[in-house]
This record gives sequence, C-alpha cells and structure tokens, in this order.
Amino acid sequence: MKLAIIGTGYVGLVTSAVFADFGNQVVGVDIDAQKIKTLKSGQTPFYEPGLSDLLIRNQKTGRLEFTTDYAKAIPDADVIFICVGTPSDNQGRANLEYVFAAARSLAPLLKNNAVVVIKSTVPPGTHLKVKQIIDKVSKNHYFLASTPEFLREGSAIEDTLHPDRVVIGADDRFARETLLDLHRPINGKRILTDIISAQLIKYAANAFLASKISFANEVARLCDAYSADVMRVMEGIGEDKRIGKAFLHPGIGYGGSCFPKDVKAVLAFGREKQVNLNVIKGAHLTNQTQVDYLINKIKATIGSLKKVRVGVLGLAFKGNTDDIRESRALILIEKLIAEKALVHAYDPMAADNVKKFYPNLDINYHPSWQEVANQSQILIIATDWNEFKELDLKQLSRISKIRYIFDGRNILNPDKVKQAGFEYVGIGR
Ligand SMILES: NC(=O)c1ccc[n+]([C@@H]2O[C@H](COP(=O)([O-])OP(=O)(O)OC[C@H]3O[C@@H](n4cnc5c(N)ncnc54)[C@H](O)[C@@H]3O)[C@@H](O)[C@H]2O)c1
Repeated sequence: MKLAIIGTGYVGLVTSAVFADFGNQVVGVDIDAQKIKTLKSGQTPFYEPGLSDLLIRNQKTGRLEFTTDYAKAIPDADVIFICVGTPSDNQGRANLEYVFAAARSLAPLLKNNAVVVIKSTVPPGTHLKVKQIIDKVSKNHYFLASTPEFLREGSAIEDTLHPDRVVIGADDRFARETLLDLHRPINGKRILTDIISAQLIKYAANAFLASKISFANEVARLCDAYSADVMRVMEGIGEDKRIGKAFLHPGIGYGGSCFPKDVKAVLAFGREKQVNLNVIKGAHLTNQTQVDYLINKIKATIGSLKKVRVGVLGLAFKGNTDDIRESRALILIEKLIAEKALVHAYDPMAADNVKKFYPNLDINYHPSWQEVANQSQILIIATDWNEFKELDLKQLSRISKIRYIFDGRNILNPDKVKQAGFEYVGIGR
C-alpha cells in the first residue's frame, strides 16, 4: 500500500519505518524542516534502540522517504496516519491544534477513498471535528478511522511488531478491512471497534497504568509508615493474576510524554460531561506529590539541603531513552535547586536535551556517574537506567565520600548497598 505518515516524532517515525519494512511505500511528512533534513541525511533525530538501522535500510530501498511537502505525500496515499503531538494546554486539555492543522493541510490533496487514520492520542469525538475540517475542502470521498498507539519509548520497534493488541476503530467496513490488511504482518489480538471507543481505549489504558503506579506509590508510603518492604508487598499482590506484576514499581512517580498529559486530558474531558473520575484524580494527585515525598525523606535523613552537593543519576523520564518530557528527574532537580542544593548530574543519553531545552537549569553536568559521585555528598537515583541498576558499589565507596544513597527508583538491592558501607533510603522499603 501507499502510506503517508504525518508527524515524524516517536510514533510517526516508528510507524513509518515498520510499515516500510513490510514492503509498503511510505512518505513521512513533518513541518519541522530541520528534522526532515536530519532524516534525509540518514540520521535519527532522537535515540530509540533499533530505529536508526530500520530507517537507513528502508530509505536505501527507496520504500521510505521524508518531506515537508504534503503535496508529495498525500495525493497517492491509500492510508494517511496522523501522528502529530497532542500536548496539554494550560487547562490540562489535549491541545488539538496540530491535529487540526494536519487535517487542513491534507484535506485538499486526498485521493478518492483514502483512509485517514488518527493515531495521535485524541479525546473522544475529535474525529468529528477533523471531518468538519476535511469536508470543507475535500471533493473526494474518504474514510476516517482511529488506531491508537501503545508503543513504549525504549522498546518502540519491538512493541510495534509484537503488540499485545492492535486496536482498529472504524465506523465503515472499507476502512476496517483496509487497516486489517495493512496490519496483517503484525502480531497481537485485533480489537475491532467504533472510532470513539478506540479513542477511549487509549486514555483508559494510560489512566489505568498511571493509577497502578500511583497505587504502588501510596502503598509505599504505608510501608514507610509501618516499616514494611513495599517490594515484597508488590510481589505479594502482583503474583495474583487478577492484579498482575507490571506497573507496580514504586518510585518518584511517572513522567514522559504520555501518562501525565493523558491523565490530565481524561480528567478534563470527563469534567466537560460532568463525569467525576475520583480514581484517576487520585492517581494524578499522588503523582504530583511523589517527588516532594522523596525530598522530605532526604531532609528527614540529612537535614537542610542548603549548599549540599547532590549527585543525581538520570535525567531522562525513564531508562533507555533520551526523552526528558515531564521527567520526574528534572522536577526533582528543580526542587533541589529551590532548596539551595548544588546539583551534579549524569545521564547516559539525555544530558544534551536538558542543556538544549532547560539552558537555565543550574546543573553541573558530568560525563559519568563516577565523576558525579566524586563531586557529591549524597547520591539520588532518579532514572531506572540499567547502568544504575548495576552500580559498582565498591568503586563508589573508593572514589567518593558519599554516605547516603537515595534510591528514587527502588532499583538497588538495599542489603548490598548497606554491606558496601552506605546508608540506603528507598521509597517504601
Ligand atoms: N511517544 C510515545 O511514546 C507515544 C506512545 C503512544 C502514543 N503517543 C501519542 O502519539 C502522538 C505523537 O506523539 P510523539 O511522541 O510521536 O510526538 P512528537 O512530539 O515526538 O512528534 C510529533 C511530530 O509532529 C510534527 N508536527 C506537528 N504539527 C505538524 C503538522 N501540522 N504537520 C506535520 N507534522 C507536524 C512535529 O514537528 C513533530 O515532529 C501524541 O498524541 C502522543 O500522545 C505517543
């Protein structure tokens, strides 16, 4: 099939690369000329394991091209995926201006019977507004559909090839059959539904996963209060198949480009219909206070943070990515700076992004955890990179004067940390 993918961010690029690899003819479109230039030169604008090889391979075969010009992508496309961002607006709602702009740009160029698929995460009913925009200018008949995306950054290719499920929201047979055909090489159960239910599946999934994380964090607070070990408690409940083990890992809260904004968006479109979402609201509130929870534990342990040299390991919102959107590590650092601490930090991938997007954040950057440790009086683990899970504690005690390790991701073994001569403070253990 001939595909146009609008928006070459995480979702759009991975979608482009994977569908081109299956033999489709794919054109990726973005308004960001710099990004398109980078892609055309064979580089990848962000770090995602395996993506670079896939992009280069498919560009070489000629099956994958990039452009800023809609007219080079839309007129031939059988299927068009809208994959632009839907960030929060200042009231927590999904900002749909990019989706609507994409709809305006593609509308005059659609061929007859093209299928326009919204892959961006959008509130229920957004496709009706997209339809109004397209109907104003398109003379041709077209179909609308929704295939929400569930990939995780850091394992995006694997998740796209082997998803648990593929949700196809379509209100017409032709669109449904076309999308079933296109997704044939991809594993996973098919969930066939109407467009609005597909849109809600995405928000319900993210709100549920965010709630699991906040639930684990609340139980961690209980464990701290009663001197229990939250990791054992989570293992004890996670083995129950009705509950499941995933997303029950306590820490300083969820961040990233999806959970925080999608939770806020659900609350906002719930409010619009006077639906009170107490569970989801609670998940949001717990997350909002989880970094403070760690800061308070640190202050309860060492006293004031004023002029304390604090080593922070991790800047990305999670391991295996250089994405810093809504990263709890950065919120932690902002709060440490507000407490007048002196912050030293290292991240295997994300430091350049922090320097670029937060040039005024007063961080002393280092090229390794060892150098951070060497400069710091206390150490905080803020991101769950594998490199930090396997921290060489013997080396740490040799090269630093650190006494306290605050494990904001509960990734170290407290016994081993203590055996190595440090004091260990985790979340709920
Ligand atoms: N990143 C994830 O892990 C993930 C996972 C599932 C779903 N999603 C959802 O997918 C959507 C995209 O997320 P992302 O992380 O890929 O976003 P992103 O910010 O990485 O990329 C969006 C891209 O769209 C481009 N763009 C904006 N307006 C445009 C227009 N009018 N025409 C063409 N290009 C335009 C931007 O320049 C940018 O390159 C969001 O709704 C997000 O919630 C993201």
